[in-house]
Amino acid sequence: MPALPPSRRVAVLVSGSGTNLQSLLDSIAADPAFGGSVVVVASDQPECLGLKRAEAAGLPAVAVAMADHPDRESWEDALTEAVAAHQPDLVVLAGFMRVLSPRFVRRWPGRIVNIHPSLLPAFPGVHGVADALAHGVKVTGTTIHLVDEQVDHGPIIAQRTVPVFDDDDEESLHERIKAVEHTLLPAVVKLLCHDRIEVEGRRTRVRAAPDRTDDLLPFAPQGDVE
Ligand code: GRF
Repeated sequence: MPALPPSRRVAVLVSGSGTNLQSLLDSIAADPAFGGSVVVVASDQPECLGLKRAEAAGLPAVAVAMADHPDRESWEDALTEAVAAHQPDLVVLAGFMRVLSPRFVRRWPGRIVNIHPSLLPAFPGVHGVADALAHGVKVTGTTIHLVDEQVDHGPIIAQRTVPVFDDDDEESLHERIKAVEHTLLPAVVKLLCHDRIEVEGRRTRVRAAPDRTDDLLPFAPQGDVE
């Protein structure tokens, strides 16, 4: 009898519209072999659409607002405990707009991933899309990387390119990037759930599926947008 697929516990942190969270939830719901499920969604923004999506999916949706805490450290402690209470194997930062301290990162070493809307190391930080546009690049994209103790810096798991059009503004470019993210993020989370990402220093690679029937076609390390 084939071994049961793994069932990883995934925590997702959001601050905004949560379209990446939604694509992850939809992918998990549609794929019995996904190998993981979202066990908690947490946010620093109590009113954000991302939390509402979690509620609509019947998931624990936890708001930990900075304003409810005397300082950054106690806010982050509360967030850490709220997430840790659900014993995640993996923490996904899907549009989480606060920088997390090394203390948070050390709680789940090598098990936190972030999605960033540029081709890192170009254009890190909160204005990745606007900065790429202002710089005049013709191609930008998205990066999914392991989180280390520096901002937008850890080992890169996957990148996809996205063209910049002459009439783009920040919104139109970001929408085109998000459309790519919505396929890439679930594919990467699935790989992580199946322990398929090997890390060596800054380099990562995808391990072949044990049975060689690879159903991860959306994950194309070199792929341009068709
Ligand atoms: C994404 O573009 C992601 O790369 C960035 O924030 C955005 C989140 O969008 N970190 P959404 O909240 O998933 O719609």
